[in-house]
Amino acid sequence: MGTGTTMRAVRLHAFGEPEVLVYEEVPRPVPGPGEVLVRVHAAGVNPLDWYARQGFPNLPRDRRPPWRPPLVLGSDVSGTVAALGGPDTGWRVGEEVFGLVRFPGLSSGYAEYVVAPAAALARKPASLGHLEAAAVPMAGLTAYQFLHRYLGYAGGGPAVVNGAAGGVGHFALQLLRLARAEEVVAVASGRHEEFLRGLGADRFVDYTRTPVAEAVHDADLLFDTVGGPDAHRLLPALRRGGRVVPVYLGDYRPQRAAELGVVLHEGLWQVRSSGADLAELAALLADGRLRVALDSTYPLPEAAAAHRRAERGHIQGKIVLRVRE
Ligand SMILES: NC(=O)c1ccc[n+]([C@@H]2O[C@H](COP(=O)([O-])OP(=O)(O)OC[C@H]3O[C@@H](n4cnc5c(N)ncnc54)[C@H](OP(=O)(O)O)[C@@H]3O)[C@@H](O)[C@H]2O)c1
Repeated sequence: MGTGTTMRAVRLHAFGEPEVLVYEEVPRPVPGPGEVLVRVHAAGVNPLDWYARQGFPNLPRDRRPPWRPPLVLGSDVSGTVAALGGPDTGWRVGEEVFGLVRFPGLSSGYAEYVVAPAAALARKPASLGHLEAAAVPMAGLTAYQFLHRYLGYAGGGPAVVNGAAGGVGHFALQLLRLARAEEVVAVASGRHEEFLRGLGADRFVDYTRTPVAEAVHDADLLFDTVGGPDAHRLLPALRRGGRVVPVYLGDYRPQRAAELGVVLHEGLWQVRSSGADLAELAALLADGRLRVALDSTYPLPEAAAAHRRAERGHIQGKIVLRVRE
């Protein structure tokens, strides 16, 4: 625990391997008008964090956020309101909240305290622990906003979720079911089959054994959290008029998509902080219609170990840092 003006946080002073993440004393942030100070109990870990730790080598230069060390990473938190930046935040000290703190933007959630815009937070459902709540914001909002804000999804024929066992994928699968997709096809490596069927997958494709386009031909929607150079190989899984929703950068070969009559949503849409959208997810989580899975948890000082876990891949659900044990 830091003193009144300081706190403990995980900070990096140079881009690089997980070892650049150092647990140390840093200044405690002070909330301004419209902001609240949150005492963090748990912080979620996202691909954004390990991309940022390395200085975003995976993104074209013009798409890289202008973040420079020293940096405190971490966009997702769950905790309690510790102080208010003004009279009109809508929150009270002591309330349990969670949120995607400030995205797009630098959130600095790998810390004992974080300052969040009041509008980025939602009340944590009482039925959810802080670890589970911290696992939701970025991945849950991505799945929710891509379906309901970006696509305006209102149900339809078979929907394929590629990368279904990951943070975004396991929420997308469940939200598609809730939004009345006729059938949800989960694509993941074989180890995740039982997990994904348990979340409601109607069909399962182990991409390490069967090419997706051999197993599926009639999809209305491809919700692709994987992308990459092989992304175009999934296009034949869609029917003519079917849509691809890319969540990450991928080579979808627009000409090939046109030949197949597949609708490609070009460009990469981005999730954004929204307490209102998170409150929608909170309602689903509160009564168990939506479930959150934890891959693993690590104490805050061991953030480097959490990043090493992420680099091994095959994540099932979310990795979370325990900040207040
Ligand atoms: N556009 C946006 O606003 C936005 C927002 C959030 C995240 N993202 C991006 O979306 C991506 C996914 O994020 P996430 O948090 O869900 O990541 P994650 O938790 O690391 O999950 C990735 C999942 O993909 C699976 N996978 C890996 N290779 C695969 C393949 N070839 N085919 C099918 N599945 C494969 C992995 O397990 P198995 O290989 O064992 O199946 C893992 O479960 C990241 O690149 C992230 O940066 C974008």
